Amino acid sequence: MPNSAPQPPPPATFVTARLFARRPRADDAPAVFAAYASDPEVTRYLSWPLYTRVEPLAAFLGEAAANWDKRDRPVPLAWLLCLKGTDTPIGSIGVTLEGQGRAMFGYVLAKKFWGHGFTAEALTYLVDWALSRPDLYRAYAFCDVDNLASARVMEKAGMTREGILRRWHIAPTLGPEPRDCIVCAKVR
Ligand SMILES: CC(C)(COP(=O)(O)OP(=O)(O)OC[C@H]1O[C@@H](n2cnc3c(N)ncnc32)[C@H](O)[C@@H]1OP(=O)(O)O)[C@@H](O)C(=O)NCCC(=O)NCCS
Repeated sequence: MPNSAPQPPPPATFVTARLFARRPRADDAPAVFAAYASDPEVTRYLSWPLYTRVEPLAAFLGEAAANWDKRDRPVPLAWLLCLKGTDTPIGSIGVTLEGQGRAMFGYVLAKKFWGHGFTAEALTYLVDWALSRPDLYRAYAFCDVDNLASARVMEKAGMTREGILRRWHIAPTLGPEPRDCIVCAKVR
């Protein structure tokens, strides 16, 4: 029988060896815009196109903040990632508790910080958190078939590649049609 006892919400903040993660705020918009949300290389494979103005990003971050107070799961819950000792966002990671014992993750990092293991560090923390909960059995993520850095991040976080989800996800920067995606998971 799945464990259906109510569980506490995900932690509002967490720390890893090098990162501090916290809930977003609408007033993070200028920093997020400058760090990654306006960069076409960063948004290439994402479900949202790059932002060209700060105001709509502030609205999005305001909604992301409000999601934390909603009780009608599932909603995506996002953290902003800051270097420890700072409050300036360099990326974001999110989880959706989908029901059926599943936690789905997504993440993005400013280009100047790529290649230092930051995303794998944050994802590893959250995968371990998810699978330590009695009601969660599957921690998973997917990425575009061409997004090999993201596929590697999933592996580094302990997930195993399960296959290809064909025609799974629309990345508006790449075109209007859904694209094939790699799906990886860690289960218990
Ligand atoms: C994907 C992304 C989050 C990775 O962040 P990161 O902090 O650089 O990731 P990490 O440093 O933890 O790990 C990246 C791994 O991918 C590897 N990698 C990078 N580019 C690669 C490529 N073209 N092919 C294969 N592996 C690649 C790195 O070498 C590293 O693996 P290693 O530590 O074994 O050497 C970052 O590139 C990003 O924000 N991209 C744009 C947004 C995005 O695509 N998000 C994911 C959506 S599913």
